[in-house]
Amino acid sequence: AGREVPQKPMAGRHVLVTSGPTHEAIDPVRYLANRSSGRQGHAVAAAAAEAGARVTLVSGPVAIPDPAGVTVVRVESARAMLAAVEAALPADLAIFAAAVGDWRPAEMRDAKIKKDGHMPAPLTLVENPDILATISARTEGRPPLVVGFAAETDAVLDNARKKIARKGCDLIVANDVSAEGGVMGGLDNTVHLVARDGGVETWPKLGKEEVGRRLVARFAALLAARNG
Ligand code: CTP
Ligand code: CA
Repeated sequence: AGREVPQKPMAGRHVLVTSGPTHEAIDPVRYLANRSSGRQGHAVAAAAAEAGARVTLVSGPVAIPDPAGVTVVRVESARAMLAAVEAALPADLAIFAAAVGDWRPAEMRDAKIKKDGHMPAPLTLVENPDILATISARTEGRPPLVVGFAAETDAVLDNARKKIARKGCDLIVANDVSAEGGVMGGLDNTVHLVARDGGVETWPKLGKEEVGRRLVARFAALLAARNG
């Protein structure tokens, strides 16, 4: 008899996933955010649990249900997401699917900003920490497989290749989020897997749940090839 395909290819693994947008507070009632629904990240987390992994999902504010069999840590800001990710390590695999806010207001006002008959002071922004780059650069406790996502509206593959080099991750899942594609908030996704050597594999348009299952199957195979 040939070798049997394992039923639970992620059994014994700890998988860390980020998902959803972040909210960056302006004052107690206002924030900066983006259009991420969390659907693709949550689908990856669900698929990893289905494949037998212990899964920690660090999620920004989303309107979709928690995936079954997953430990969910809810955060709002990019800085809180980074802290939750660091607290969840070590992991065998880390997948950074969140649409992390690139900037936050330089200061969060303690009281609601009032109209008071005049325009508010201009919003000054500062850059948020890059969670994917921070974890990829760890010398101790770096997950053996670190996967980023790249949301692009143009030059998808060129930008993804630059991103993988800049961030130091092992793999990038790139997708086109220009408005006509309807990916942000939509149910389907067309992804390109971009490897460190620049190699690209483009998958057909699939439901986000199917993309999640296929990604997890691929990551399980990569981990098995590394350390059995
Ligand atoms: N990412 C992150 N922390 C940030 C910004 C991005 O962890 N502060 C991660 C995302 O979760 C994703 C990857 O980095 O896995 C790429 O995110 P993206 O927004 O496409 O890249 P940026 O480097 O922010 O570049 P830009 O938005 O300018 O295209
Ligand atoms: Ca960004």
